Amino acid sequence: MSKTVILGVTGSIAAYKAAELASLMVKRNYVVHVIMTPAATRFITPLTLQAISQNPVHVDMFASPGSWEIGHISLAARADLVLVAPASADFIARLAAGMADDLLAATIMATKATVLLAPAMNDGMYANPVLQEKIVYLKGVGYRFIEPETGRLACGTVGQGRLASPEAIIGAVSQAFSSNQDLADKRILVTAGPTREPLDPVRYLSNYSSGKMGYAIAEEACRRGARVTLVSGPTQLAPPPGVSLVPVETAQEMFEAVVGRYDQVDAVIKAAAVADFRPRQKSEQKLKKQVFSPVLELERTPDILGYLGEHKSRQVLVGFAAETENLLENAGGKLRQKNLDLVVANNLTEPGAGFGVDTNLVTLLYSSGETVKLPVLSKKEVAGILLDKVAAIIQVQAKKV
Ligand code: C5P
Repeated sequence: MSKTVILGVTGSIAAYKAAELASLMVKRNYVVHVIMTPAATRFITPLTLQAISQNPVHVDMFASPGSWEIGHISLAARADLVLVAPASADFIARLAAGMADDLLAATIMATKATVLLAPAMNDGMYANPVLQEKIVYLKGVGYRFIEPETGRLACGTVGQGRLASPEAIIGAVSQAFSSNQDLADKRILVTAGPTREPLDPVRYLSNYSSGKMGYAIAEEACRRGARVTLVSGPTQLAPPPGVSLVPVETAQEMFEAVVGRYDQVDAVIKAAAVADFRPRQKSEQKLKKQVFSPVLELERTPDILGYLGEHKSRQVLVGFAAETENLLENAGGKLRQKNLDLVVANNLTEPGAGFGVDTNLVTLLYSSGETVKLPVLSKKEVAGILLDKVAAIIQVQAKKV
């Protein structure tokens, strides 16, 4: 299930930046509901935020009985997170005073969700001890703050008060989600990295996989409370703390390590780039160039994921499809052939995607037929969104059993 974020916008000149924040969150597949204070509507129109968030924008607490139903109580209950960006000095003070005199303040008073506030204002206002005391108080009762930046402010002065960058704000949102424990006690097996298929004691066939995607998934799952086993081919990466590492080299070793643990896990996420072929014979001695043969005989390695799909009971199965052509057709084919719940498809030819880099550009394909195209994101962010889905599928499976 997608995360629901309430984006609160208050009366600061930085209110126009809320449009970009809403857009970035929609691209990350969050469901975004915007609530504006009346003052915010003087800086940016509700229509703009409505078009970007793809949901009605709420301003007036007493608008009409119809919108009251989706007003502060139900929005407050539905939210997974409330982000107020920009948060004005006046709004922060009202919140600290326990006021509920507009829809945004009333919603925040009513919600049990995490509340993140990104202040933006003149540097003198931000430094004012009255405001700082309110911030300290709000932090003490659990509100989280994203510090404003130092730089040139709209009023022309230079100081601390500029709204944090969109990257910092979106990072704090995904961090808030990843600090949840929705995978507590779930057992998750992740595979990562390449495999090496030996030809002789010094040579092998392999691929460029760095392992970064799989390691990011393992780390994120662990942070969210899962018991994680990481079956990894050779990489340059340190295993994330708390993860149980099972190092392997060949596809056959990976097969044995994964299949031997399959019964005990709730989900398998196969981010490894398993070699599809291996030399038919491994020479015990280093092959001599004098006995060079131009033909290398190959055979198929076991299709680990195919095997898991055939023997699936309650486990959630996630595969990766790294393609250089016909991305969605090939990935969809894999989803069905291997009996998967979800495929993460990436086109290796696009910038920002695939092996070695820290970002990825993926489309998620579900067994229900739904597809979700994500923008270029860090592998960590992709891991977070992927695990949201895995957690939701595990929950649905658990209800069926
Ligand atoms: O069919 P293809 O190799 O492109 O499928 C990719 C997915 O299948 C990845 O999740 C990969 O880890 C997995 N796979 C596997 N065993 C193989 C080859 C791929 O589990 N021998």
